[in-house]
Amino acid sequence: MGEKTGKTEAERSSVGAQRESGKQQTTENPVLDVIRHRRSIRRFSDRQIEEEILQEILDAGLYAPCAGGRQGVIFAVSQDREVNERLGKIKRANSSPRMASGGNYVSKEQPSIADDPKLTNAFYDAPTVITMFAPKNFLFAVGDCAVAAENMMLAADSLGIGSCYIGQGWTAFADPYGQDILKKWGIRGDYHALMQLLLGYPREGDRHPASKPRREGRVLRF
Ligand SMILES: Cc1cc2nc3c(=O)[nH]c(=O)nc-3n(C[C@H](O)[C@H](O)[C@H](O)COP(=O)(O)O)c2cc1C
Repeated sequence: MGEKTGKTEAERSSVGAQRESGKQQTTENPVLDVIRHRRSIRRFSDRQIEEEILQEILDAGLYAPCAGGRQGVIFAVSQDREVNERLGKIKRANSSPRMASGGNYVSKEQPSIADDPKLTNAFYDAPTVITMFAPKNFLFAVGDCAVAAENMMLAADSLGIGSCYIGQGWTAFADPYGQDILKKWGIRGDYHALMQLLLGYPREGDRHPASKPRREGRVLRF
């Protein structure tokens, strides 16, 4: 762990690309392999994820770093397909993403709502949706949720589960149905939804998506 490989940016990209194409195991470090292999999955199989797998993924989120060691993030797991679909549709109705045009797409293989206007569910029919809530007015709320989400996405990938990070979590609850769900789930009024994490098996027959090439010049060395 933490060993410097001395690889250039271009070499690292090509290592990632090799693993994605399944040609070879590129490192002897499974953590680095998973980091390079994880991609956002938006096309899911109907199959629900097993409870033991869900527990492992949640554990990864619970062990994430958190500001001040406060452990303030609440993970609300919904495996109710009707609820997930309705919230995903509310979210879609409340989203106005900048639609992709020309070569400017989010993902060709796993289209997002910015790529395909026909997608009416911003949760893409994922069988498991985790909404992360944090205290309102807590300066580090987004950071806490994001690091927990990344831990869970990496855990998911390592277990063969697809995931997708969904921002602006509050928009899924921005109508009376969403507000009723918050009450039903017992979410306190001083907490708000920051983001969702979608989980599910990737759709059968889909190739694991390739990453876009990494933009050069983003690392400054002094
Ligand atoms: C802060 C944040 C918000 C995101 N919100 C959404 C979203 O609302 N819908 C979506 O389909 N993907 C969302 N994504 C996923 C990104 O589109 C995705 O990570 C990016 O296109 C890179 O692709 P990759 O994850 O496959 O590497 C979000 C990612 C981040 C980090």
